[in-house]
Amino acid sequence: METVLFVTSEAYPLAKTGGLGDVSGSLPRALHSLGHEARILMPAYRDTLERAEAHGKVREVAGFDIMQGRVRLLETVLPGTRVKVWLVDYPAFFDRAGNPYLAPDGQLWHDNADRFHLFARTAVEIACDRVGLNWQPTVVHCNDWQAGLVPALLSLEPTPPATVFTIHNIAYQGLFPYETFVALGLPDALWSHHALEFHGHLSFIKGGLVYADRINTVSPGYAQEIQTPLFGYGLDGLLQFRTKRLSGILNGIDTREWNPGTDPHLIQNYNSRKLDDKQVNKLDLQKGMQLSHVAELPLFGFIGRLVEQKGIDLILDAMPQLVEMPMQLVMLGTGEARFEQELSDWSERYPDRVSVTVGYDEKLAHRIEASADMFLMPSKFEPCGLNQMYSLRYGTVPVVRRVGGLADTVTDTTTETLADGTATGFTFESSDGEALLATIRRGAELYADRTAWRKLQINGMRCDHSWRRSAAGYQALYEQARRDSTPSPEVLG
Ligand code: ADP
Ligand code: GLC
Repeated sequence: METVLFVTSEAYPLAKTGGLGDVSGSLPRALHSLGHEARILMPAYRDTLERAEAHGKVREVAGFDIMQGRVRLLETVLPGTRVKVWLVDYPAFFDRAGNPYLAPDGQLWHDNADRFHLFARTAVEIACDRVGLNWQPTVVHCNDWQAGLVPALLSLEPTPPATVFTIHNIAYQGLFPYETFVALGLPDALWSHHALEFHGHLSFIKGGLVYADRINTVSPGYAQEIQTPLFGYGLDGLLQFRTKRLSGILNGIDTREWNPGTDPHLIQNYNSRKLDDKQVNKLDLQKGMQLSHVAELPLFGFIGRLVEQKGIDLILDAMPQLVEMPMQLVMLGTGEARFEQELSDWSERYPDRVSVTVGYDEKLAHRIEASADMFLMPSKFEPCGLNQMYSLRYGTVPVVRRVGGLADTVTDTTTETLADGTATGFTFESSDGEALLATIRRGAELYADRTAWRKLQINGMRCDHSWRRSAAGYQALYEQARRDSTPSPEVLG
């Protein structure tokens, strides 16, 4: 049995800005089902604390000094589970309104380096059992750059536990100027391009990539892609160097949270035997979004961060032709102001065809998944992607670009794949509006063939993307990490 300290900057339902929140909210529970003990360590953001208090008990279990400040460790459980959560309470850094990473003006918080440095130092103190909890993990599982300093700092300890670093997105690296490295008081030994330095900058993510005993990412496809210059964001060389320690484990989905048969957000629950009931949700959404109420029009959905990664420009490029087609589009997201604006403009011009909701809305996300006929994910790159897996489960056919986890989870529809029952969606290769448009047309054409369409939906609904298999993958990874665990960092170069 492993005891795992799961270090993450978000975990649903206590904090979520994207897929990391979903994964951190469901993987630890899946590990428990396999007989392991995973405890989540995350910051006590203002919203997080409020949510935790609303759900149950929050009690202080430790208090200690980190650098110049006093940290309180608060214990609670992840709502709806028995997974223990430790919240790092440091009000000057985390007791703020809004997003974990962004200030209300949409810019990164000016002190993110200080915030996640303190977070990492706290993780190290706990991992080394120095805060009076009388608990020590066998494995410290760190996620994304916000936890990147943990493996680096642990490497300086005499007998550190094994470390695993999961890359959810290599595009976000936690880069700061050299002055920040000095200001944080990080040990000089960590300043070299074999350590935390990245082209003269301090890179938080390198702390994970260089020092973790095992590195993984969230799909086998992305594990390969990030070792190439096109997807590696400058870190492909390092990842190639560590290729023997690098693997891909496809994310699972929380099948309790995302189940069309029981989803409390839906006006009408349904399953593969009662698929006609899905339509009730579609009509309800059309009404709610002020679209024309035409059951026969294929409805396309999109939910996600409105950023380059998600291929928003492909959707915008295709928009002039899309609005001429017999179809409707419902989009939900927040992100870059230019995307929010341009998409909203389209919905103002074609209100009965295009609906754009700028905002973050969990309930609406569930309703869109249940109501849409097809789901668009034309991503430039996609480490895993969760929405296409939610779509499959909801009988909503994904239309995706063939990259990363999207390629690993969606099988294109051809005469052969329809015949052998493996078709689950529509995929395309090239990152441009034309290719997206052609694929949307393919989807709309098949949509008119009700028998074939039903088959496609059922194929998708039969896919098993639960955490069962993936959690076993992490179990194996933890074992490997413990085997590989060494007191000093690998010598690079
Ligand atoms: P990423 O982590 O890159 O944002 P994923 O597909 O892994 O992409 O996960 C995104 C998660 O965040 C999904 O659960 C999705 O439904 C949710 N999500 C993204 N944007 C919104 C939004 N505006 N409102 C509600 N949920 C959202
Ligand atoms: C990242 C990726 C996304 C992935 C998620 C959870 O945010 O962009 O593809 O599904 O992390 O691992």
